[in-house]
Amino acid sequence: MYRQLLEPISQFLCCATPDKWIDEARKPENLPMLLIDHMICELKAAQTGMWLIRKYVADKPSGNILLEWLKPYEAFIYCREGDLASLAQKNTLSKTLIAKNSAPYSQDLMDKMVLLIKEELHHFYQVLEIMAARGVVYESIPAGRYAKEMVKHVITHEPKMLIDRLICGAYIEARSCERFAKLAPFLDDDLHRFYISLLRSESRHYQDYLTLAEQVAGYDISARVKYFGEIEAELILQPDEQFRFHSGVPI
Ligand SMILES: [Fe+2]
Ligand SMILES: [Fe+2]
Repeated sequence: MYRQLLEPISQFLCCATPDKWIDEARKPENLPMLLIDHMICELKAAQTGMWLIRKYVADKPSGNILLEWLKPYEAFIYCREGDLASLAQKNTLSKTLIAKNSAPYSQDLMDKMVLLIKEELHHFYQVLEIMAARGVVYESIPAGRYAKEMVKHVITHEPKMLIDRLICGAYIEARSCERFAKLAPFLDDDLHRFYISLLRSESRHYQDYLTLAEQVAGYDISARVKYFGEIEAELILQPDEQFRFHSGVPI
């Protein structure tokens, strides 16, 4: 079943995850770091969704509601405040968000990103549960180069900036999905099941980002998509000193 989900993703990405990365990721001693990095990635994915809504479509009160929603998760990652129990009931958006402008994509961006944030925060909590069950204690780790390097190529004027950010979002989600699927068979049953369970939402996130990029542009963006695809593939295929969930070939 999940092969069907992966087919468009494999076509979209310009390269597959190298076996050398898998060899490193399946080592039991790397599992705690991989889980921690995965949890941080889920928060970053939620933050990206929040940033897009706040910058482009939400009015100020709605932006503040979003900030409140993510606050407990950010406090956990950046200040080590809270735990599994205190985060248990936090993933709720109590009020309706209101769009500040009437761009044709506004409502769609809002709806897709709200759902994405909800799912990423749920994934965050699931990773935290797995860590707790395995006695993995959270500690902060420096970010890898992947997203930072990709975002450096984003054009800094609108509307191209938004289009580029959405394309980058599509690649990050697609790569996560491809890695979960490729790594899953080498992990224990629990983690295998968990990673496969993530594929459906992550593959939708990639599709949503791409659809939004096309919608915002209103013209053929395939050349721009290819441009970022090549940058992304380079980051995956080139040697990387840091080992992370989205890192390149381990040295
Ligand atoms: Fe996720
Ligand atoms: Fe995602």
